[in-house]
Amino acid sequence: MLENRKILLCVSGGIAVYKAVALVSKLSQAGASVKVIMTQSAQQFVQPLTFQVMSRHDVFTDTFDEKDSSVIAHIDLADWAELIIVAPGTANVIGKLANGIGDDMVTTTLLAATAPIWIAPAMNVHMYDHPAVKRNIQQLHEDGIRFIEPSEGFLACGYVGKGRLEEPEKITQLVETYFRRELKLTGKKVVVTAGPTRERIDPVRFLTNFSSGKMGYAMASAAAEMGAEAILISGPVSLSVPSGVTRIQVESAAEMLEAVEAHFATADYVVKTAAVADYRPKKIADQKIKKQQGESSIVLERTIDILNQLGQQKTHQVLIGFAAETNNVSKYAKDKLERKNADYIIANDVSEAQAGFESDTNRVVVYGKNDFEQAFDMMPKQQLAHQLFEMIIEKETPYDR
Ligand SMILES: Cc1cc2nc3c(=O)[nH]c(=O)nc-3n(C[C@H](O)[C@H](O)[C@H](O)COP(=O)(O)O)c2cc1C
Repeated sequence: MLENRKILLCVSGGIAVYKAVALVSKLSQAGASVKVIMTQSAQQFVQPLTFQVMSRHDVFTDTFDEKDSSVIAHIDLADWAELIIVAPGTANVIGKLANGIGDDMVTTTLLAATAPIWIAPAMNVHMYDHPAVKRNIQQLHEDGIRFIEPSEGFLACGYVGKGRLEEPEKITQLVETYFRRELKLTGKKVVVTAGPTRERIDPVRFLTNFSSGKMGYAMASAAAEMGAEAILISGPVSLSVPSGVTRIQVESAAEMLEAVEAHFATADYVVKTAAVADYRPKKIADQKIKKQQGESSIVLERTIDILNQLGQQKTHQVLIGFAAETNNVSKYAKDKLERKNADYIIANDVSEAQAGFESDTNRVVVYGKNDFEQAFDMMPKQQLAHQLFEMIIEKETPYDR
């Protein structure tokens, strides 16, 4: 299953270090090549020798203990890895990484890595609930790091609650699924648009909307994780670039159209999550508009409808649009599918709590040709992005159409 996959396991200091030994064993049995780095604290729980024997590789514990003079170990290991797992992930390591601190072999290597990083936290239930830990986890989420949620149960500290390191079998399954998925978009180019656009009124004002860009960033991140060349054309948002994704930043609808068109001919999948302005001011004032007595108005003109434009130009591309609506979602989505010559419209009701713009979760219904319709439950946008690609890839064979 994991033949020749290169997995770097970073072990930090908690009781669950013993489970990390089992994880190395499971990953190795599945065929992966596993290298291990341990923090000083982790070595209080299990000796490096145990990991060395289980992984059949040297174990790295000290940034300044350079075993091979031809390389710098933490850079070399970061470059070597296809996937990095931090298990168990202590509150301390999570805090350090969220703040860019690299003061030992584990954190220095994590900062040097471009491969996806997964953290499997394990700690006392109150530590896990601490606002500082929650803040750090949120920050790392935004930095594109994936978390393997701890499970609930009896904790070594005597408490019962959330904080148990996920079982090694389960983590191994997630790794296998990840690499299986990865293959599915290898060799494909996926172009994703995300976020709002800004249409200038004058030098200090603009028209925009509440799109956070989270769904689009999740789609681009999932595409990259599944092996695609992922191009993310993004309006102004405060999210960082997901690992493995090339981001092109734009401002207006016109700039977004230009950027999409530049990549359209070579794209296999085009996913339009951006909330593009339908109208823009007909005239952009050169100077700041001064306030006046009484009412004022701005004359608006239509922007070019990007999805519609791409629908006309489509040759082999699979065109996926998003519809964010507050009412009559199904009717509008089906209509949009038809009018714009899209292959799929993914519709969500943005008036629903925990769905749509600012939320980290979403619930959608996908509409496709020939009355295809599939509903997805409420789930984190990252997970939903993977499931949407899985579904679309299954239904599509873009080169055979
Ligand atoms: C017996 C024992 C168990 C511990 N278990 C955990 C744990 O499960 N999770 C955690 O975040 N910290 C745990 N700690 C605290 C960490 O070891 C401590 O914060 C340490 O500085 C972490 O270092 P590291 O992150 O560099 O490995 C434990 C400490 C002791 C003494």
